[in-house]
Amino acid sequence: MTFNDKVIYQIYPKSFLDTNGDGIGDLLGITSKIPYLADLGIDMIWLNPIYPSPQHDNGYDISDYKAIDPIFGSFADFDEMIRVGKKYHIEFMLDMVLNHVSTEHEWFQKALAGDKYYQDFFIIRDQPNDWLSKFGGSAWAPFGETGKYYLHLYETTQADLNWRNENVRRELIDVVNFWRAKGISGFRFDVINVIGKDQQLLDNPVDGGKSEYTDKPIVHDYLQMLNQSTFGQDNSSITVGEMSSTTIENSILYTRPDRHELSMVFSFYHLKTDYENGDKWTKMTPDFAKLRDILHVWGKKMSDGKGWNALFWTNHDQPRALSRFVDTDHFRVKGATMLAASEHLSRGTPFVYMGEEIGMVNPDYQSIEDFEDIEAINAYKMLLKSGKSETEALQILQEKARDNSRSPMQWDSSKNSGFCTGKPWIALGNHPDINVASEKNGEIYSFYKKLIQLRKDQEIISKGSYIPAFEDSDSIYAFIRSLGKEKLLVLNNFKDQAVSFKTPQEFNKADILISNYDNYIPGYLQPYQSIALILK
Ligand code: GLC
Ligand code: CA
Repeated sequence: MTFNDKVIYQIYPKSFLDTNGDGIGDLLGITSKIPYLADLGIDMIWLNPIYPSPQHDNGYDISDYKAIDPIFGSFADFDEMIRVGKKYHIEFMLDMVLNHVSTEHEWFQKALAGDKYYQDFFIIRDQPNDWLSKFGGSAWAPFGETGKYYLHLYETTQADLNWRNENVRRELIDVVNFWRAKGISGFRFDVINVIGKDQQLLDNPVDGGKSEYTDKPIVHDYLQMLNQSTFGQDNSSITVGEMSSTTIENSILYTRPDRHELSMVFSFYHLKTDYENGDKWTKMTPDFAKLRDILHVWGKKMSDGKGWNALFWTNHDQPRALSRFVDTDHFRVKGATMLAASEHLSRGTPFVYMGEEIGMVNPDYQSIEDFEDIEAINAYKMLLKSGKSETEALQILQEKARDNSRSPMQWDSSKNSGFCTGKPWIALGNHPDINVASEKNGEIYSFYKKLIQLRKDQEIISKGSYIPAFEDSDSIYAFIRSLGKEKLLVLNNFKDQAVSFKTPQEFNKADILISNYDNYIPGYLQPYQSIALILK
């Protein structure tokens, strides 16, 4: 394994840094900040989609896999970004959205025009089944004027590809190899565990079709084929599969090195702990016991089964974890460092979401006009229809919308927080005081730097196994990492109150490896305190 001591930084390109005044972040902006990211210590940058797209789903609706959307720049800008990255030992990971294409993609357009070869690239039926789209409504839409329907598990303009067609597979292999030839060594595969739909496309009133298209055994075959014909040929490649409603058993199969599928997986159960009765569009304090149990089960079973997790608290589809799990009015800094420790000292590959390293919080948008995401706008309408007032609906969006992490990166205290000079594509957040200029070398940034370096220095962090600890605690999420004779006990207080605990006897003589407070009283954690005790 070549990636277990690496740390990946996620950039949402549209919102990182704009250099030409059009209000949209671009590749030149990313290149100019590579030295900043090198100082932080990260190894790879994952970019959300940068390909041509009508942007109905912010680039996840791709209309050309082998080009760069002019809003982000040119191939010359891209090459320069890769070149500067190499100079600073930073590699790039691109988003591969291989489950669907935009209905503006040439393949779909040709299919619509009657070309049978391309019609077989999609999943087209005379009658819809009862599957539901993840963005609301039926998963089927009329296929032009033909009287038939095409499948779209996501937005209507995101047509699912027919992976059972080997011409589709050949084209997609070609896409991955195209980007490898351009110097890309990392790939994040979007919703990759839904590419293999069951052949029969049966109705499933219980779960809207999920079990007919999720984690089907054929996905493993497809991944092995993709691995062999593309990234598996590079020793240093890093791949992560975004897994929708997956199981641990499948995640072990997706990532066990001898299976030659992927390096690691993203799963999302830990971020559904504030969904009231499973419904995202509700306001709820996260259920700590549930969170703790999920982290333990995934940590332990993946460790025992030799699988590998991608570790993260925030991404472009999630509100900022700091706002979600921490009382940021009183404990923003300690909360941010505690969340960082709980992730970076665990077993798996940590992902830092842009702005996390300076403790950015949700933007607190005050008006529905500020939201851009189709999912949020649909949810707002749905909430009003279900009887919520505008204020209630807005409050729910302020906590749950994906736009919460998509607000522009805050660089300094100048206009638009230094993100752009023109009109930003999405509103700035309402906490401009939190920016790189004011936080750089501050407590949160320095703590991230330390954690990233520790993973390189301490094999117990990059390689140790994961053993749950304090499994019944109401406040502390704790685990033990173990490697040879060494042991590391990591304690994280998720509450805004101090808590006492009994140090396991074997750790009585342990040393402090890192803590986010200057002082540590054995058996006692201050609000949001993290401490890691090492036994050599
Ligand atoms: C993934 C992406 C998300 C996108 C969806 C459809 O979940 O992370 O942003 O909307 O796939 O492509
Ligand atoms: Ca721009």
